[in-house]
Amino acid sequence: MSRDTATAATDPASHDPSTRSYPRIVVPPPGPRARAVVDRDATWTSTSYIKEYPLVVARGAGAMIEDVDGNRYLDFMAGIAVASTGYGHPAVVAAIKEAADRFLHICGSDFYYEGMAALCERLAKLAPGSDKKRVFLTNSGTEAVEGAIKLARNSTGRAGLVAFKGAFHGRTYGAMSLTSSKARQHAGFGPLLPEIYHVPFGYCYRCEFGKEYPSCELFCVSAIERDLFARQIDPGDVAAIFVEPVQGEGGYVVPPDGYLAALRALCHKYGILLVCDEIQCGIGRTGRMFASEHAGIEPDILLTAKGLGSGMPIGAIIARESVMRWKTGAHGSTFGGNPVCCAAALATLDVVERELVANARAMGERLMAGVRRLATRYRAIGDVRGLGLMIGVEFVQDQKTREPATDLVNALVQRAFSRGLLLLGCGRSTLRLAPPLIVDANDIDTGLAIIDECLTALA
Ligand SMILES: Cc1ncc(COP(=O)(O)O)c(C=O)c1O
Repeated sequence: MSRDTATAATDPASHDPSTRSYPRIVVPPPGPRARAVVDRDATWTSTSYIKEYPLVVARGAGAMIEDVDGNRYLDFMAGIAVASTGYGHPAVVAAIKEAADRFLHICGSDFYYEGMAALCERLAKLAPGSDKKRVFLTNSGTEAVEGAIKLARNSTGRAGLVAFKGAFHGRTYGAMSLTSSKARQHAGFGPLLPEIYHVPFGYCYRCEFGKEYPSCELFCVSAIERDLFARQIDPGDVAAIFVEPVQGEGGYVVPPDGYLAALRALCHKYGILLVCDEIQCGIGRTGRMFASEHAGIEPDILLTAKGLGSGMPIGAIIARESVMRWKTGAHGSTFGGNPVCCAAALATLDVVERELVANARAMGERLMAGVRRLATRYRAIGDVRGLGLMIGVEFVQDQKTREPATDLVNALVQRAFSRGLLLLGCGRSTLRLAPPLIVDANDIDTGLAIIDECLTALA
C-alpha cells in the first residue's frame, strides 16, 4: 500500500468532503486491490451485469467516492441517480442505525409499524395535486412499475397500456414490456406482456415526425389520438399511459412545455390513468420534489424509488384514493416498506425538502450554464437539456446530420474515470449528469473542468 493510500484509509478528515481532497488519483485505476475484486467478480457474478468501468468502492462521503486503492473520485452519477443525499449523510445514517437497533423486519403487508404509516402519509401529502392519495411501498423501481400495471388494470377494468419509445421502466416482465430503450433489454425474453403500445416521446431534438416546437402544436400528443386510438386500440380499452416526466435511460430527454399537460388532458378525455414514472427524476432531482410539478399536473399514479432511500432499497406507488381501491390481498410484499428503509426514506425526505430541492435548482443552473459554455466550444455537443441536477448532453458526429457520437461518449466516460470523475452515458450518445443533490459550486466547477479537459484530449 502506498503511503497516500494508507493515509486515505485512516484519515478521519477524509470523511469530510469539505477537505477538498478529491478528485485524487494515486494509482491509475484499476489499482491492484481493485483488479483483484474485478477478477473475482468476473468469475462469480452473473454475465448480465454491465459494469461501466472498474470502479471498486471502499467508501463514500458527500459527493466523494473512494476506491479500494485510495483513489478519490467526484461522483456525477450518484449510483445512477440514487445517492440523493450523497454518501453517508449523517442524518440518514443515524436514522438507519436507530431503526436497525429496534427491529429489521416484521412484514408491513401483514402488521403495523409507525415508520410505514408515517412514510405513506408523508408521500401522499408530498405528491402533486390536491386529491387525497394512498401509498403502496415496494423494494425497487421495477416493482413499483409492476404494481402500477396491476393497479391500473384492476382499477379501470381495461387491459391496454401505452408507453413511449426510449422509455425505461425496469427489468421485470411488465416493466420490461413497457420499456423501449434498448433492444438488448428484450432480446430472448419474449413473449412480453401483451396489450402494450409504444408511441414517440416528446423528444424535440430527434422529432420522429420531422416537426419543430412550438409550430408542431404538440403533434406527438395528438398523434396518439389520431393514429394509435383510431387504428390500433380503442381508447376505451386503455387502462393507462406510462410516462417519465423527464426520460432517463432514453437520454435525459425533457419534453417540451405543455407536453405533460396535453397528455393529462388526453387521459381525462378517455378515462385513462396517467402514470408518471418519477423513479429517476423524482425526489428533488429536477429542482422540485417531483418533476411533474414543473408541468403543474396531478398524475393519477406517481412512482418513486431510486433517490427516495438515499441508496436503501425502497420505492412507492402513490395513487389517488379513487384509484387505489383494490381489494384486501390483491397486492402485497414481504419486504416492501422494510422498517429500516422507511427510516432512511423519512430522513432523506427531511433533508431533501429542507435543503436539497433548492440546492438542486441552484447547482443545476450552475452546471447547465457551464455545459452550455462547453457547447459553444465543442461542435460534438448537439443538444443540452435538463432540469435541476438532471442534465443531458447529447453528442453528435455532425451538427447537421445529428448522427449519434456513441464512441465519443464512451471514451469521455472512460477518460473522466481515469481523471477522477464518475460519469455515465444514456440514450444512444448522451452524457447524463446526475450528481448527488448535495454538490456545491466547487464540485460543479471541478466536474466541468475535467469534462472540458477530457473533451480537449478527445477532440
Ligand atoms: C424511470 C425508471 N423507471 C424504473 C426503473 C427501474 O428501477 P429499478 O432498477 O429500481 O428496478 C428505472 C431504473 O433505472 C428508471 O430509471
